[in-house]
Amino acid sequence: IKKIGVLTSGGDSPGMNAAIRGVVRGALSENLEVYGIYDGYQGLYEDNIELLTRRSVSDVINRGGTMLGSARFPQFKEEEIRLKAIENLKKHGIEALVVIGGDGSYMGAKCLTEMGYPCIGIPGTIDNDVPGTDYTIGFLTALNCVISAIDRLRDTSSSHRRISIIEVMGRHCGDLTIAASIAGGAEYAIVPEKPYDESELVEGVAEGIANGKKHSIILVTEHITDVHELSKKIEARTGRETRATVLGHVQRGGAPTAFDRVLASRMGVYAVDLLIQGFGGRCVGIQKDELVHHDIIDAIENKRRPFNEELYRIGQKLF
Ligand code: F6P
Repeated sequence: IKKIGVLTSGGDSPGMNAAIRGVVRGALSENLEVYGIYDGYQGLYEDNIELLTRRSVSDVINRGGTMLGSARFPQFKEEEIRLKAIENLKKHGIEALVVIGGDGSYMGAKCLTEMGYPCIGIPGTIDNDVPGTDYTIGFLTALNCVISAIDRLRDTSSSHRRISIIEVMGRHCGDLTIAASIAGGAEYAIVPEKPYDESELVEGVAEGIANGKKHSIILVTEHITDVHELSKKIEARTGRETRATVLGHVQRGGAPTAFDRVLASRMGVYAVDLLIQGFGGRCVGIQKDELVHHDIIDAIENKRRPFNEELYRIGQKLF
């Protein structure tokens, strides 16, 4: 193998740049050429492809976002679009592709692999919802962001004796919410993996207030309920002022933490090593602090990230 490509796709996450740098420098140290594909699968289709050098990835280890740009490109589900993408890759002589992104991005990599084009997936998303890995790149950076937001909201909600509802990202995964609720000392963690009973929540909060609680912090993963409507209901039931805060895309930005920089660097270099060893159609993960790789088709079709019951249970005891 002589030439490889790298792209970032789907929602960006802090540490993606460190992963790109890992791929580029890992490949150059093995005398491979690396091509950067801009704007994810869209750039692959539009032939937005450029040769990268050592210097292309200088000064990016500390930067959030992705220097290659990212896009959601649902058209990649169409076979003709993917055929054009493969044609573009072949035109540049690129023999394999490293895809950094979440489960949607893995799907694209899986389809290319099934069409005979070897891809390696690196898990980059704040959601921590990718199969075959304990951690995705960006999750712990986003977690720190959520915690600092909770700390700030705690200051103001305790001053005003208010109830605070905080909506956390994660798509359909509660990992960010659960970890943030433990580290931020929240009273409730409402997550998609567990049944949600609104009246039980409202009554529980009301009981806490009746028992003398000064204020209360409730974390809710996005897409479960309208947090503004919920805040009106809690306010009506408890008689306490209640405010809802949607943290939104703030959670996706910022400098990656040391953990994410190291993780991304390791995974980037490892992905290249796998390609050199002749592996294609794999996805990279970290499990029990060991780098691992799985069949990307099997991971997408048959593996789901197990819900962390233990962490959830611990959280329940601390609230
Ligand atoms: O997958 C990362 C993520 O930030 C999710 O947590 C969230 O649901 C989604 O992306 C938001 O997508 P977009 O940036 O396209 O609005």
